[in-house]
Amino acid sequence: MNEKTHLLVLDDEKNYLLVLEALLTDAGYTVTALNDPETGLAFLEESEVDVIVTDMKMPKITGREVLEQVKKNWPHIPVLIMTAFGSIESAVEVMKYGAFDYITKPFSNDELLLSVHNAAELSRMHRQYRVLRENLEERYGMHQIIGKSRAIRETLGMVDRAAPSRSTVLISGESGTGKELVARAIHFSSPRNKGPFVSVNCMALNPGVLESELFGHEKGSFTGAVAMRRGRFEQAGGGTLFLDEIGELTPELQVKLLRVLQERRFERVGGTEEVEVDIRIVAATNKNLQEEVEKGNFREDLFYRLNVVHIALPPLRERREDIPLLVAHFVDKLARENGVTPKTFTPEALDYMTGYEWPGNIRQLQNVVERCLVLVSGDTIRVDDLPPELRDEEAQLKSAVDLLPVQLDLADTLERIEAALIRRALVRADFVQVKAAELLAISKSLLQYKLKKYNITGH
Ligand SMILES: Nc1ncnc2c1ncn2[C@@H]1O[C@H](COP(=O)(O)OP(=O)(O)OP(=O)(O)O)[C@@H](O)[C@H]1O
Ligand SMILES: [Mg+2]
Repeated sequence: MNEKTHLLVLDDEKNYLLVLEALLTDAGYTVTALNDPETGLAFLEESEVDVIVTDMKMPKITGREVLEQVKKNWPHIPVLIMTAFGSIESAVEVMKYGAFDYITKPFSNDELLLSVHNAAELSRMHRQYRVLRENLEERYGMHQIIGKSRAIRETLGMVDRAAPSRSTVLISGESGTGKELVARAIHFSSPRNKGPFVSVNCMALNPGVLESELFGHEKGSFTGAVAMRRGRFEQAGGGTLFLDEIGELTPELQVKLLRVLQERRFERVGGTEEVEVDIRIVAATNKNLQEEVEKGNFREDLFYRLNVVHIALPPLRERREDIPLLVAHFVDKLARENGVTPKTFTPEALDYMTGYEWPGNIRQLQNVVERCLVLVSGDTIRVDDLPPELRDEEAQLKSAVDLLPVQLDLADTLERIEAALIRRALVRADFVQVKAAELLAISKSLLQYKLKKYNITGH
């Protein structure tokens, strides 16, 4: 152990206390020995204590009362109780109130040391667990969702409002828009954040395997089911189950999921006994589920069950004002993770980043930043350092055109594209018209004429 374990020892018999203090200090612990339990409880208010060793029979406050106070206010501290042989309150009683262990006086040194050692181990594990959980909250909390666009602010507002309840949340958005990030933020900002966050990708597994993955199976329910196995629903008990790519569920599994959502219970594959679960479900899809319902691919009743709170994440190209922020965020984060020095994008390079279509959304942006950080020598990233797909205007035009239907009215489409380009230029120019006109290489008066024509206003 790199850090000494801090013991608080309480016993009203002063001589005995001195003996204990010497013994435990010799064994390598930091010991605070007090003969008044009241002072002991006050001491807990202001000090970090790892383990408490207390006598049972003391005037004013008994060991059991100490135990109750500790359980209430510092439930992570293990309490070891020393009882005199034949005392009224039995050991069983003490354990029932949540003592870590008890030893009966007189005891051998080894007996005490072993028990203290075990309690110290437990306390150390508690501490590690707390640190891990704080790290998780740090990593997956709401503040990891970067952006100042209205869309992101609205998303954060939804997460904030949805988190405290158990309502089912449906998150939709193109690939890489942050669906999983938002799902985790909901879990880690919710009262269930001490429970597990369990994630299942409905697309990754074939339907047969997926069923047993979700619901578990009983022993012998199919060849290879050699033992009972709990599914993800059970594993997520007390926490959140994240069902990713929900649009890929087969009709058969859609029915089963509907039942769990309605009744909060299900059977394991091959089982008859019902299992009850306390979970919150967050589902995600990159499909338009409403459309899938209309096409008959997705059950309408299930859709309504899932769509209680709907968070729609916009593609990155519809909130370009977030791109510079995201670039700065990823430069910082990835430089730290990769152990390289952060680099700066030149304004022109950043301009290309802001103007690109980002079909892979934030994930693609993150990859591009990472690649630049690792591959570019020097501390500046210029246009030439960017991956070709970002620089190739022909390819950009082509991929934009590829997204359009083949059969369309040319004049009308060109006008709409013109209007869209003007909007984009305005955003990039922070709504300064002279700058937007410059970007578009047209005069300010022509821009103003077109703004009127297309009915485009400020923000
Ligand atoms: N607003 C954001 N701020 C910071 N990082 C983000 C943001 N949105 C997404 N990311 C990051 O982008 C990456 C992709 O996000 P995520 O995996 O949540 O997307 P997804 O929508 O689940 O994608 P897919 O549909 O491909 O599964 C992750 O590394 C995530 O941390
Ligand atoms: Mg995902």
